[in-house]
Amino acid sequence: MKIAIINGPNLNLLGTREPDVYGSETFEQYLASLKRRFPRVSFSYFQSNIEGELVSELQRVGFDHDGIVLNPAGYTHTSVAIGDAIAAIRAPVIEVHISNVHAREEFRRISHVSAKCRGTIAGLGLKGYELAITFFLDAVA
Ligand code: DQA
Repeated sequence: MKIAIINGPNLNLLGTREPDVYGSETFEQYLASLKRRFPRVSFSYFQSNIEGELVSELQRVGFDHDGIVLNPAGYTHTSVAIGDAIAAIRAPVIEVHISNVHAREEFRRISHVSAKCRGTIAGLGLKGYELAITFFLDAVA
């Protein structure tokens, strides 16, 4: 099974960025634990702070991966282009947010990607990524 993880802007700063909201683990540390936990999954990982690069990566992995776990970060709330890219590809996408976007500022309740996704996980910390992967694995079991 091939799963792509795509992280949007500022998620390269996980570990030091607002640790009270996003925790103190870096994504690289977490990714290493994911690879140990799911040894049979082939992971690709991509992070960018640039909207168009996220669109290009969705297009690149979107036709030959079994699932995509996407945290569009701040672009969730603004990007029609990322929503359109999800609609245009074949692979199912699960939207993940580390924080509970519904319990924060009003603007974080708007998502331009949710309606195009298989589902959304928010507020469960980094665990949201592994829950999304487990969903994809169960779907093919
Ligand atoms: C986030 C929530 C977004 O509102 C925010 O802009 C982020 C991270 C999350 O994972 O909780 O950068 O997607």
